[in-house]
Order: sequence, then C-alpha cells, then structure tokens
Amino acid sequence: MVGKLEGRRIIVTGAASGMGRAIADLFAQEGAALALIDVNHEGVRQAADALGAVGFACDVSDRAAVSATVADTGAVLGGIDGVVNAAGVLDIKPFGDLDPASWDRMIAINLTGPFNVVHAALPFLNGAERATIVNIASTSALMPMAGTTGYSASKAGLAMFTKCLGFDLGPKIRANSICPGVIKTEMTRYLWENPEHSARAADRVALKRLGLPEDVARAALFFSTDDSGFTTGTELPVDGGFSWR
Ligand SMILES: NC(=O)c1ccc[n+]([C@@H]2O[C@H](COP(=O)([O-])OP(=O)(O)OC[C@H]3O[C@@H](n4cnc5c(N)ncnc54)[C@H](O)[C@@H]3O)[C@@H](O)[C@H]2O)c1
Repeated sequence: MVGKLEGRRIIVTGAASGMGRAIADLFAQEGAALALIDVNHEGVRQAADALGAVGFACDVSDRAAVSATVADTGAVLGGIDGVVNAAGVLDIKPFGDLDPASWDRMIAINLTGPFNVVHAALPFLNGAERATIVNIASTSALMPMAGTTGYSASKAGLAMFTKCLGFDLGPKIRANSICPGVIKTEMTRYLWENPEHSARAADRVALKRLGLPEDVARAALFFSTDDSGFTTGTELPVDGGFSWR
C-alpha cells in the first residue's frame, strides 16, 4: 500500500520526544522523507537512526542556526514540502512568581521558534507543489488557565501566527495548528505520574482519558495531506472534549 506521505519531504521539530517523536514515527510509516530537529543531540540522533531520517541538533530559538539547518535540510532532501513545529517548553507559575527570563524563553521557543523555521523554509515551501505547515499550539491558546500567562501567550500567538500564515501563504501553502489538551509526554510527566492528578485531569474531559502522542500525530497527518486540502488557517483541538467553544 502506498503511504499517504510518499514523495513528501517534511521537517519535524521537537522530534526527540513526545508528540514530535510520535509524528516522526507516523510520518515515516506513511512514507515521508524526514528531517528531524531537536535541541536534544542524543535524542534526535536516536530518532533519526531509528527512522532512517536525517537528524539535526538545533535550538529553534537560534535564528542563525535554524537558517543554516533548514538550508541543509533542503539540500539533503532535495526540497521541503512540509513543516511540523512541535518543539516547545512549559513553565507553570502564578504570574507573580514567573521569572521574566522564563517568559522570554517560552516566547523564544514556542512562538519565535516556529517563525524561524517557517521563515527559513519558505523558499523551499514556495517551490513545492502542495506545501503544508502544522504548528502544535495548545488548548492554552484557546482559554485562560491558572499559572500559564507566559505559555498561553506564546501558544495563542502561535495559533494567530498560523491563521495569518494561512492568509499570506495561500493558495499554495496551507497552515494549520493543533491544540492538544493534556497529552502523556515528558512535558506532563509531573501530572500523569500522580494517579490522583491524572484521574482528575481525565475526569475533566468528555472522553475521560488523557491524550496520547499518537492522537496528535494522526491530526498532524491529516493537516499534512490532501485529506485536509480545503482547510487552512484553522486550529483543531485534540483534547478529548475540554475546550468547548
Ligand atoms: N504534553 C502536553 O500535554 C501538551 C499540551 C499542549 C501542547 N503541547 C505542546 O506540544 C509540543 C510537544 O510537546 P511534548 O508534550 O511532546 O513535550 P516533550 O517535552 O516530550 O517534547 C518537546 C521536545 O521539544 C524539544 N525542544 C525543547 N526546546 C527546544 C528548542 N529550543 N529547540 C529545539 N527543540 C526543543 C525537546 O528537547 C523535546 O524533545 C510542545 O510545543 C508543547 O508545548 C503539549
């Protein structure tokens, strides 16, 4: 059977762990040629080795490094058809306790990081036949939550950045974001390792469970293929029924 991403060359950031890794796994199964980017050198090397992909150790907030890495990716893969921005960091603190340096870091990685990657990839995406951009935002982009001023601002910015990309880059390039709820990854280990907290988080959503990285990977696949060919500039909650609007 032909994979849904056969012939497509895609960058996945944050691919050493969690959702980025699950997206890389699914996209490799579906036949994509992949370039994996992560600040975790060893993790990205392992993922790339396991999937027959090229891996780059790169901090997405470092614009010069991203430009060089994305240019290398375009050369190695012979072009770029898609980008998935999954790299991200979370610091939950009441506003009064939030270190300004942590605010800067969340904005730099969660919001400016995707800007850096898309900006560097644009010449390649413009050369592709049906290019796609998928940004992993969060339900924090859609509703206020205690202790998440910095994180929510970065993710709400990312969701609106993606909407505007949909306008500016259409009709050739489509851009969509995914808003995951609580997904079982390293980022949320502090929560799901505690059975009480985990049960409370599951009970808050209609589908009564925490999300898995694979739930998000399937949504990223949808947005990276013609299955979503008439959809751009939108955001899809993958949250078990939490962010009702
Ligand atoms: N886990 C959740 O419940 C949840 C919910 C909503 C949104 N998200 C978002 O989903 C995305 C994936 O998170 P996850 O849950 O898989 O977390 P994770 O911690 O398992 O993975 C994040 C990956 O990003 C990489 N990374 C961090 N900073 C980087 C940088 N500066 N440059 C390059 N790579 C960097 C990390 O090394 C790691 O491999 C993030 O953007 C996160 O904000 C997570």
